[in-house]
Amino acid sequence: MTQDLSQTAQEILRRNDRGGYTVPTHGLYPYQWNWDSAFVALGFAEFDRDRAWQEIETLVSGQWEDGMIPHIIFHKDDPGYFPGPSVWATGKTPPTSGITQPPVLATIVRKLWEDEGADPTNPRMIALYQACVKSHRWFHTYRDPLGNGLVMVTHNWETGRDNSSEWDDALARVDTSGVGTYQRRDTGHVDAAMRPTAVEYDRYVAILQFGRTSGWNHREIADHGPFRMLDVGMSMELLRANRDLLVLARALHDTEVVAELEARIALSEAGMDWLWYEGVGAYCSRDVVTGESSGLVTNASFLAFYAGVGTQAQRQRLIAALERMTKSATYLVPSLEAGSRAYDHKRYWRGPIWLVVSYMVAQGLAEAGHDDWAERIRTDSRKLIELSGFYESFSPETGAGSGGPDFSWTAAMWLAWCGK
Ligand code: GLC
Repeated sequence: MTQDLSQTAQEILRRNDRGGYTVPTHGLYPYQWNWDSAFVALGFAEFDRDRAWQEIETLVSGQWEDGMIPHIIFHKDDPGYFPGPSVWATGKTPPTSGITQPPVLATIVRKLWEDEGADPTNPRMIALYQACVKSHRWFHTYRDPLGNGLVMVTHNWETGRDNSSEWDDALARVDTSGVGTYQRRDTGHVDAAMRPTAVEYDRYVAILQFGRTSGWNHREIADHGPFRMLDVGMSMELLRANRDLLVLARALHDTEVVAELEARIALSEAGMDWLWYEGVGAYCSRDVVTGESSGLVTNASFLAFYAGVGTQAQRQRLIAALERMTKSATYLVPSLEAGSRAYDHKRYWRGPIWLVVSYMVAQGLAEAGHDDWAERIRTDSRKLIELSGFYESFSPETGAGSGGPDFSWTAAMWLAWCGK
């Protein structure tokens, strides 16, 4: 079975390859997505190392002058997707969206580089290192409104956990009166019961329109945008990525960047407590405008181990939350704790499992010495693929696949992690 599934996983990556970049899945997501490509590179690395580097290089070809790596690169137009390049209207070549996605790139570049012997003269690593430094500086400049090293997002799509209920309250304040009419495409590809509702989608479009009207002025969006949240996921991921980038900076004797990153890491380590919510004993996303915590335990809450934060007591409470999840979930790690408001084991980011998040959570747990939990998550992930195939996401209750089929990053996670 393992061999067959590995074969299928490779075929999915080859089939979703559009020449130097991979689409997340055919139909539903016909372009290059930022963090998808980072994880996909890990999958390619198992059988075609050149193609692994290329995936990231093609992504970085869409980096903006200000340093932002966009969440989508529209290499070739595809009428089957909304909102496409003409809706974003960023005026970039290649055309891109105007927002970013989780900064996991530096972590993955470090891994690719180390797996090849950590040669500090590796030109591919050096070029990507420079792109990551620029991208991290963009986050530090535009996305740290409190100056405490956490990451603010200005669109829920930036988080990668697009439809999580963490964003519900902030989204409810978004004025949708000027949105106008548009034709959604996602519900033509997958069951509408799994996708966001029409009201939710209007809010996503309204936030996009604010950015477009500002001429994609990232200062203006950061200071006055209609949606501003401190995302627990991206805060943890950027802290982790800064640690990995520091390893590269040291190898390159880039002393200025070393000092810069050390300071950023110290800032984020101290700042993370701003997200700790004692009521549930976990790190939770928090609204910049109202200061309110979402109070929701999501799979991103467990990225604390991956980021290397938390006191002994905080870590114990996180493990207790994970333990609690096993009572209602057959498989770990659900994107939202069962029993939370809006929990739905089938709807996007309100319950289903995404293996890329599980992978990061498991990696962090293993590094923190929780090998039993790391192995439990890996085994569950493996079972989900064996049971349902390479779906976008999976029900934590039944293990059934949800979202799109033949998903690139799910195939990559099989090859690089749970199918090994
Ligand atoms: C959805 C997910 C996001 C992912 C994209 C492509 O929008 O929420 O995380 O990057 O699909 O797979």
